[in-house]
Formats: sequence, C-alpha cells, structure tokens
Amino acid sequence: MALHSLLFSLLTIVLVLAKTEPVLCDYTSIFNFGDSWSDTGNLICLNPNNHAFHFPYGETYFGHVTGRCSNGRLIVDFIAQSLGLPFLPPYLARKSGQEFRRGANFAVAGAMALDDAVFEERVCSQFRLVLQKKLDEDEGSPQNQSVGLVIGVTGIVGNSLAEILPLSDTPGGPWKVYGVARRPQPSWNADHPVEYIQCDISDSDDALTKLSPLTDVTHIFYVTWTSRATEAENCEANGAMFRNVLRAVIPNAPNLQHICLQTGTKHYLGPFETFVKTEPHHESPFHEDLPRLISPNFYYALEDVLFEEVEKKENLTWSIHRPDIIFGFSAYSLMNIIGTLCVYATICKHEGTPLRFPGTREVWDGYLDASDADLIAEHQIWASVHPFAKNQAFNCNNGDVFKWKHLWKVLGEQFGVECAEFEEDPTPKLEEMMKDKGTVWDEIVRENELLPTKLEEVGAWWFADVALGMKVSHLSSMNKSKEHGFLGFRNSKTSYISWINKMKAYKIVP
Ligand SMILES: NC(=O)c1ccc[n+]([C@@H]2O[C@H](COP(=O)([O-])OP(=O)(O)OC[C@H]3O[C@@H](n4cnc5c(N)ncnc54)[C@H](OP(=O)(O)O)[C@@H]3O)[C@@H](O)[C@H]2O)c1
Repeated sequence: MALHSLLFSLLTIVLVLAKTEPVLCDYTSIFNFGDSWSDTGNLICLNPNNHAFHFPYGETYFGHVTGRCSNGRLIVDFIAQSLGLPFLPPYLARKSGQEFRRGANFAVAGAMALDDAVFEERVCSQFRLVLQKKLDEDEGSPQNQSVGLVIGVTGIVGNSLAEILPLSDTPGGPWKVYGVARRPQPSWNADHPVEYIQCDISDSDDALTKLSPLTDVTHIFYVTWTSRATEAENCEANGAMFRNVLRAVIPNAPNLQHICLQTGTKHYLGPFETFVKTEPHHESPFHEDLPRLISPNFYYALEDVLFEEVEKKENLTWSIHRPDIIFGFSAYSLMNIIGTLCVYATICKHEGTPLRFPGTREVWDGYLDASDADLIAEHQIWASVHPFAKNQAFNCNNGDVFKWKHLWKVLGEQFGVECAEFEEDPTPKLEEMMKDKGTVWDEIVRENELLPTKLEEVGAWWFADVALGMKVSHLSSMNKSKEHGFLGFRNSKTSYISWINKMKAYKIVP
C-alpha cells in the first residue's frame, strides 16, 4: 500500500501513507510516533489515574476525556481531518482483530529524547510488556459492537457503506452489518462482510418478516429510493418504503440509537419533474436552513416519515444527508453518472466516434460540486457516532468545485477517445444517441469478457441528460458540517478517476 510517504518532524513524527498513485493529499493512512503533543490515548492505557484524564481534559471538543493532554484536539487530529482520515486510534487501546488500515498512533505522553540505552530500558521494554499484556487480554475480551442496517446495500452509497462499516478502525466499531436489497447479492458486493438480506421494502409484509427479527440493530442507514412517473407518486411510494422499514425495526430493536436518511440537493432545486423549471428554486450556494419549496418533493415526504417515527422511541436520534451528484460505484444504481459515462465512452471507442457532451453550456462551463460515495458513507458514520451531529440535516459534498468541460476531457483520456467540440442548439441527448445500442453493448461485453450486464442496467441515459442538461450551475455549502466537526473532503477529479478505475477493475467496462 505504501509507496509514497511524507515525514513531518516537529516534536512529533507523523508518517502519512499515500495510495499507489502519487496524488497530492490522497493519503490512505497515518502512523504517528511522539509524546504528549500527539498522544491520543496511549498513556491512559498505561496509567488510567493520570491527572490528564479527568475534567477539564476533553471538555471543549470531544465533550469527554479521550486521553489527550489537552481539552480539545491536537495538531495530529487536524492533520488527520484535513486529509479526510479518521482521528488516529491509540495503538494501546486496540480492539481484538483491529488492523489499523487507516493508521495508528504510537505516541505516548512522557516519551522523551533519551539515548538509546536509557530509552530501551525505560520506555521500549515497558512498552513491549504492556503491549503484550494488552494483546493477551484482548484475546478473550468481548467485542463492543455497533450493528448497522444498510437499506439499499448494493446502491451507489450502500456499496461504500458495506465496504467501510466493517473495517476494524471505522468509528463506532467494530460494526456488524446487515445489508438489504431485492436482487441476489452481486459478485462486486460479495467481498464485503455483510449479512445480506433479500427483501422488498415496498412490501410491508416482506419488510416486517425479514427486518423485525433484527433485534440487535443500533443504526439504520437509509440509502435507497424508487422512481415513479410523477412526484406525487414518488412521495407516496418512497414514504411507504421508509415507513415499512422503520415500523419493522423501531419497535423490535431495543438498542436502536440513530437513523441516517440520505436525500439530496433536489431538496433545494425541486424534483426532476419540475427540475428548476416551473417554480422559483433557491439561489445557490444552498445551505441547510433554507425553507422547503412549495411543490411536492419525495425528500420532504421522507423527512416527515422520519420525524413521525423517531418520536416513537425515546432518545432515538437522526441525521439527514444531502449529497449532490454522486461519484461512486454500483452496477445496480438508478443514478450512477460515472458508470453511465464509462459505458457511453466504451461504446464510442468501440464505434470509433468522438465523445459528445450531452449537456448545456451552464453545466459545461459553470462551477459545480459532486459527492464521493465513500465520503458520504464517512459523513453518515460520523453523524451516527458524533454527539454534536444528532438531529440535524447536513449537505454532503467533496468541498471543492469542478467544471464538466475539464472532467469530460478526463473521460476521453481514461478511455482513449477523442472529445467532440461542445455543441448546443440542439444539445445532444444520450437517450437519443444510445437508444439502439443494446446489441452493441452485448457484443462489447462478450468480446471483452466483461461481467454480464444489460445496457439498460448500466446506462442511466435519462439521468445523465437531466443532470448535465440543467440550465443553472449550483453549489451547496459545507460550512454546517465543518462547524459541527466533519472536515472530510475529496479532490473531485481524483475521485472521478478512482471510480472510473473501479468500473474497469470490476470488469463492468473494459
Ligand atoms: N445517485 C445520485 O447521484 C444521487 C445524488 C443525490 C441524491 N441521491 C439520493 O440518494 C438517495 C438514495 O439513492 P442512491 O442513488 O444512493 O440509490 P441507488 O444507487 O439507486 O441504490 C438503490 C439501492 O436500493 C435497493 N432497492 C431499491 N428498491 C428497493 C426495495 N423496494 N427494497 C429493497 N431494496 C431496494 C437497490 O437494489 P435492488 O434494486 O436490487 O433492490 C439498491 O441496492 C435517493 O433519495 C436519491 O435521490 C442520489
């Protein structure tokens, strides 16, 4: 994993490991060595009576004692957050089986600049003894688990949650995970250690039969939806699906603590049916306090179901997550812009035609934001375990801006296809261009020994046409998330390329 590393050397040493590609700030883990300047909880394992572990330590940021010699965050916490990584777990507080895939902290308060012999005698030998004792103790110790129920586990964010939640260093863990979807578990989702449940949540009996026995669930992640002909029907159908889940789980899961509901930026723009056309929508940048628009919107229906159902259990908390267009991976998503564009580019390459941009000048040339699926999963996990994020709605995007004219060029480069000049009046439409390409796609799949898919499954042409065909460019503010303590971010161009690579790695496209 570690090909490139950075070394920060103050009183503390932080080793930051990067992904294989040498991309600035795209780091996957931090390993830290130091003293009280960066100890995030090792000393507390060695000496739980130390004065640093009583009030007012931990008062201002974490709200409780963490083992830091500070009443708030340390420099290493800010480094981790600014790199989009979790707070560094102290190595001595490791849980059984913890792998530290995203880093570990070896700093211990009181560690000094000693000569080798003294350091070995006084520090290392004790460290080893304590470490061994801790490892021995851990062998038989029971695990303190959170239990996540991901509704829509094969979707674009569901797949990221299924990958991230079970990791040993995910906040709030170790997590046991249940994942729900209707179709059998696809091969690209099957590597994740998730208890997979085939259930149609639009059927209240099926939801009750399959979900009410999950009595150990502590957190629900609702990352699904259904599409109907009108927004009134969307409100009805989506409201019923969500209600079926909550009514099956809330009365039967005594330890249920939190529900994450994923909606999106259409909260501010209005539904696809009216998308920015028939009523005044809000002016961007969007912030979470803006009032609801007047037309029906299934996101509002979902929120209302949430508010009604959480009332039925004391201390049950919620959070609402509003991403913009999602960059992620799933061959089962109703709206996967990257998957759709990869399939389009593959067909263009196969036929020797250039990539034509199916959108407006506003989208080609305007500033937009996107939401990386892994980042959304991290945002939801953060809100699940962080006390300051309870009962709040949050926008959720990468925290930077991009222009489609730049990402379009990247798409061409990634597939070795030439890009056509921007066209308007009329704007090309993918739905029109791709309408007879089913057999071409079957041929591409066969020739390249790809995972068998049908064109209508992997090419959401209608969605690309709507998303790229908007007459406004818009942005959502991430200030509220940051002010509440979530500092995760992604570089949108890097995110875009990494999901294209995943489409290729899982052989959805060549
Ligand atoms: N995708 C985006 O770019 C985007 C952007 C902003 C906001 N959003 C919003 O995010 C929310 C979630 O959408 P998403 O795009 O993340 O979802 P998605 O990728 O379309 O995934 C849907 C998941 O739910 C499952 N599912 C669908 N109907 C089901 C049912 N009746 N019972 C059980 N499982 C069912 C699907 O698998 P099966 O089909 O096998 O059941 C799949 O696992 C929506 O409100 C959407 O509007 C999405």
